[in-house]
Amino acid sequence: MFARVYLATFVAVSAYLACASPLLKARDPVCGRTYTVVPGDTCDAISVAQNVSTYQLAVNNPTVNAACDNLFIDQVLCLGIEGQDCSTVRLVVEGDSCGAILSDAGITLDVLRANNPNVDEGCTNIYPGEVLCTATTPVYVV
Ligand SMILES: *[C@@H]1O[C@H](CO)[C@@H](O)[C@H](O)[C@H]1NC(C)=O
Repeated sequence: MFARVYLATFVAVSAYLACASPLLKARDPVCGRTYTVVPGDTCDAISVAQNVSTYQLAVNNPTVNAACDNLFIDQVLCLGIEGQDCSTVRLVVEGDSCGAILSDAGITLDVLRANNPNVDEGCTNIYPGEVLCTATTPVYVV
């Protein structure tokens, strides 16, 4: 009896997964966190206040230009896509170094770069005011 129930469950679950996984992969990204722009906002200020990296805010909002000077009041921004949302972040401050950031977060440069693909190979292009994702595992599906 147990074996039969177990087998039936196994078959049902396997069939479900076989059918569901292509659908799940094809599903459109769902925004899990949003933010409404208020007067005086800047991308970096939003990133700091909302715990979202500079990279993630930019990639989730392709209509915002690189200089981030086309935000408008009441614009609804997507902060994080469900399942790919990094909210473990660190603001880069004056005098910060990549080594200090890696050491404080306990992560390697590879993980930092996986979560902040805008950071160059030598980690030489970080700047004060930038917000980095410092999660300890890669957050984005590649
Ligand atoms: C951002 O993270 C800090 C530190 O974990 C937390 O205290 C704060 O409430 C967070 N803010 C938001 C808007 O999630």
